[in-house]
Amino acid sequence: MRGWQAPRYGGPDVLRLHDLPEPHPGPGEVVVRVRAIGLNFADCMARQGVYPRVPAAPFVPGMEVAGEVTAVGDGVADPRPGARVVAVPIFGGHAESVRVPARFAYTLPSSIDWTTGASLAVTGVTANHALFTLGRLRVGDRVAVTAAAGGVGTMAIQMAVNAGARVLAVASTPEKQALARQLGAHDAVGYDGYRDALASGIDVVLDSVGGALFLPGWRALRPDGRYILFGFAVAAGRRSVRRLWAGLQILRMGWLSPYPLVSQCRTLAGFNLSLVPHLAGELRERFASLLALVTVGELKPVIGAVYPFAELPKAHAFLQSRASTGKVVVTIP
Ligand SMILES: NC(=O)c1ccc[n+]([C@@H]2O[C@H](COP(=O)([O-])OP(=O)(O)OC[C@H]3O[C@@H](n4cnc5c(N)ncnc54)[C@H](OP(=O)(O)O)[C@@H]3O)[C@@H](O)[C@H]2O)c1
Repeated sequence: MRGWQAPRYGGPDVLRLHDLPEPHPGPGEVVVRVRAIGLNFADCMARQGVYPRVPAAPFVPGMEVAGEVTAVGDGVADPRPGARVVAVPIFGGHAESVRVPARFAYTLPSSIDWTTGASLAVTGVTANHALFTLGRLRVGDRVAVTAAAGGVGTMAIQMAVNAGARVLAVASTPEKQALARQLGAHDAVGYDGYRDALASGIDVVLDSVGGALFLPGWRALRPDGRYILFGFAVAAGRRSVRRLWAGLQILRMGWLSPYPLVSQCRTLAGFNLSLVPHLAGELRERFASLLALVTVGELKPVIGAVYPFAELPKAHAFLQSRASTGKVVVTIP
């Protein structure tokens, strides 16, 4: 089988297509024959060697795939060989086959095609966890979503609107802001208009960009406000992570003392779903409820671009260029 390997950490052009050994499932694992790859910003960060627990190079990146189970290891009752699944191996998914723990393989109904299937799990479960578990979103809340036209952002807007919240979308270009409005956002602004748009206060902030954006949102929180931080996209350059810039952006986030959290009645929460494997059961349930919404048309994944497997590095470059909207998917015929 073939896979896109990063022989060293670096830009999209380090990726090389290699013949690699066919994977075999260990106990508790399944092997998935990949039909579509959901590209995530995390894959770009992993390729650059700046993602938690990234394997030493050479390695095959790839967080999320949709495909068929071809083999199961000892102790796996579900899924069975032949099952259609969406799987989240975290690394290794930019390949024709990948090995993944069975608990991270979710059944995909035949009514949902491979491309759509590959666009759902990471974005949908992330948006859901941020809005409802950590964000405790309530009807009537005003919620700000940064990078609102991206994969997670387009899911978060729809989920928040469906839950009766008022959404302030923040995105870099007028085209991205227009997409956010089409998805139901009540306001959409660029980063330069963010501070003014926050003047009337905010109940929940979903922030995956970080850096200088943090303090305006944090200061605008209403009593019982919740700030959910789950990414640091600001650190990325077009081809590589800008380390000095990233350091400066961390400084621009300021220093928090815990006591004012009490007197100002605010919550600051952070998460990275790749680091909480013990939540697998809970995340599986969320994915099932997400599928139900997609099936009845209440949640419409936005697929902004589809690339063939042979052009996977171009898909990486496109996502990192900041030009993409919705989800970028790579298909394997
Ligand atoms: N913690 C978790 O468990 C978890 C899970 C999934 C995703 N995430 C995070 O959530 C974010 C969204 O992920 P995604 O895969 O859906 O990606 P995405 O939102 O489709 O793409 C990233 C977006 O970040 C914004 N951005 C801001 N500064 C940027 C920069 N310097 N370079 C590139 N983009 C920049 C861009 O939107 P604008 O042009 O509108 O600014 C860009 O489109 C990422 O930060 C990712 O790491 C976290």
